[in-house]
Amino acid sequence: MAACSIRSRKCLQLSLLLLITITMVCCTEARKKMQETKMVFYMQDWESPPDFWKPGVNWTAVPIAGINGRFQNVLNFTSLFVMDNALTEGLDRNSKEMARGQGIYVNSALGGTDLHLIFSAVFTNEQYKGSTLEFQGADRWNYQYREVSVVSGTGLFRYARGYAILETVYLDIVGFNAVIRFNVTVRHY
Ligand SMILES: *[C@@H]1O[C@H](CO)[C@@H](O)[C@H](O)[C@H]1NC(C)=O
Ligand SMILES: *[C@@H]1O[C@H](CO)[C@@H](O)[C@H](O)[C@H]1NC(C)=O
Ligand SMILES: *[C@@H]1O[C@H](CO)[C@@H](O)[C@H](O)[C@H]1NC(C)=O
Repeated sequence: MAACSIRSRKCLQLSLLLLITITMVCCTEARKKMQETKMVFYMQDWESPPDFWKPGVNWTAVPIAGINGRFQNVLNFTSLFVMDNALTEGLDRNSKEMARGQGIYVNSALGGTDLHLIFSAVFTNEQYKGSTLEFQGADRWNYQYREVSVVSGTGLFRYARGYAILETVYLDIVGFNAVIRFNVTVRHY
């Protein structure tokens, strides 16, 4: 701008161009308002340890390691699972799938009371297909309600942040099978 004298035509044109650019940038930013999305899904966590590797059981969470290289059970410190659990609309295992819950959980409390849960919700439903949400936190399973964080997301959920309230709504102690309801609140652009 130093080279442009106030009265010159060129200077006026340059200033106008600058003004238009600023207006466009500001309005594009304004359109991407932060929004809040709430959703509920049920995580179908089927371990069925006595039946591991048997066909037809359809387990979706599998222990892969534990203390001294030996898996004890999910209630023992160090037990590590990999999961690809269905995240469904309803409590029923066969209700409509919203996403796959893909990731790991590891018993991370010396007394066995907390699982460190870290997974991606990889959406498969019509509404959010192609997008993901990242969950992480301490799943203190002996509490009726516990919270984990939503730390990020992709696609429709870029820059997501939020939390999920977890409640175990079905528990089969012998088979170590559980259904956990997630009430999720996320803010994203
Ligand atoms: C496991 O999956 C098979 C094939 O999809 C199905 O026929 C069977 O009913 C399932 N078993 C259970 C216990 O859900
Ligand atoms: C594993 O957990 C069960 C149930 O809490 C307990 O009885 C058992 O002693 C634990 N085993 C080890 C090796 O910590
Ligand atoms: C979670 O959502 C369900 C279904 O909308 C509702 O019945 C339940 O009270 C909610 N739980 C919490 C802890 O907000």
